[in-house]
Amino acid sequence: MSALHELVMPADTLPLLNIERIRREFPILHQQVHGKPLVYLDNAASCQKPQMVIDAISECYSRYYANIHRAVHSLSERSTVAYEGAREKVRAFLNAASSREIIFTRGTTEAINLVASSFGNTSVGPGDEVVITTMEHHSNIVPWQMLCQRQGAVLRVVPIDDAGELIMEEYERLLNERTKIVAVVHVSNALGTVNPVEEIIDLAHAKGIPVLLDGAQSVPHLAVDVQALDCDFFAFSGHKVYGPSGIGVLYGKAHLLEAMPPYQGGGDMIRTVTFAKTEYADLPYKFEAGTPAIADVIGLGAALDWVTEIDLDMIAAHEHELLTYATEQLGQIPGLRLIGTARDKAAVASFVLEGVHPHDIGTILDREGVAIRTGHHCAQPVMERFHVPATARASLAVYNTLEEVDVLVAAVRKVQEWFT
Ligand code: ALA
Repeated sequence: MSALHELVMPADTLPLLNIERIRREFPILHQQVHGKPLVYLDNAASCQKPQMVIDAISECYSRYYANIHRAVHSLSERSTVAYEGAREKVRAFLNAASSREIIFTRGTTEAINLVASSFGNTSVGPGDEVVITTMEHHSNIVPWQMLCQRQGAVLRVVPIDDAGELIMEEYERLLNERTKIVAVVHVSNALGTVNPVEEIIDLAHAKGIPVLLDGAQSVPHLAVDVQALDCDFFAFSGHKVYGPSGIGVLYGKAHLLEAMPPYQGGGDMIRTVTFAKTEYADLPYKFEAGTPAIADVIGLGAALDWVTEIDLDMIAAHEHELLTYATEQLGQIPGLRLIGTARDKAAVASFVLEGVHPHDIGTILDREGVAIRTGHHCAQPVMERFHVPATARASLAVYNTLEEVDVLVAAVRKVQEWFT
């Protein structure tokens, strides 16, 4: 494990991140792809893992792994303490009032499905409405569509403008006494837009409507305080915040979670079971049926320690510098159109190049060692809104550098030369 304080360098004015030192924490970054140094710019899809996270998982399996909450033997006790310790780390990371409000899920997708099923089935009825936005990821569209089909409810969609910002007057207009929940992405994975979630929540709460935030793309890039935001539910995934894949979190206000029925039945979510009747466990266990991803939860705890130690405000400042530079440099390429030009943006440069399919851009960039994502980014309504089949998307993380942005831009220019 590194001395984390070495990742921050004091400077005359503001402290600076020691990016070279940070990069050394990520073994995977130091390799060549097609004979070129890897430039990993697909962080919105999934980001890479520091040694500290890899070590935490490896240590769990090699020293103290056993099932949790179930046995009196020492390994089970140690695993349980580490697992519940990670829950406390998540609580602190989100500044939730209680660790009872932190539920481990497989990821953001499962967290949203949990709310859409458990809260939705009991609180949304025929003729009721669910409000989402045009810029949602499919994981914050499809579960609500399925709920509306089950319950005979109506899905309402807030439109976005040409910059990729929500049209807030339309949002306000859509809220009414039939609206039972608002579910909105905090930071768009396809556009990078940072939504005005405080205002979104205030407007919904003024009408007594709860709000779920999809935080999959926000927690790696900006500090989140669920109490200050006053959101009712907040979902995020471990793998986008330097942690393992297959693990995520649902935060929910205790009074809402207490009133909701379990999402899945099984072991560990019960107090007593007879064939006549089952009594459910208290929060958060009521929502954690079956053996969870024990080592991955512990790995997520290590990832949050890592991010917290570096400081999310410093990460945001570094990524902002990279994004500003990337936007300037890409903007100088003739025929390149940025998709998503919101005033408040995080870590994503999505673009199309005249006369070149995004998949060709991705393939040629790969030959230059540059990893980006091309496609619809699981946000097909966004593509439709901008009348494009797909985009090429470079997405940034704390370990990226200005030099890597230069490699990206040179590679995109090369693509253009190929096609003209
Ligand atoms: N949601 C992930 C992305 O934006 C997979 O690429």
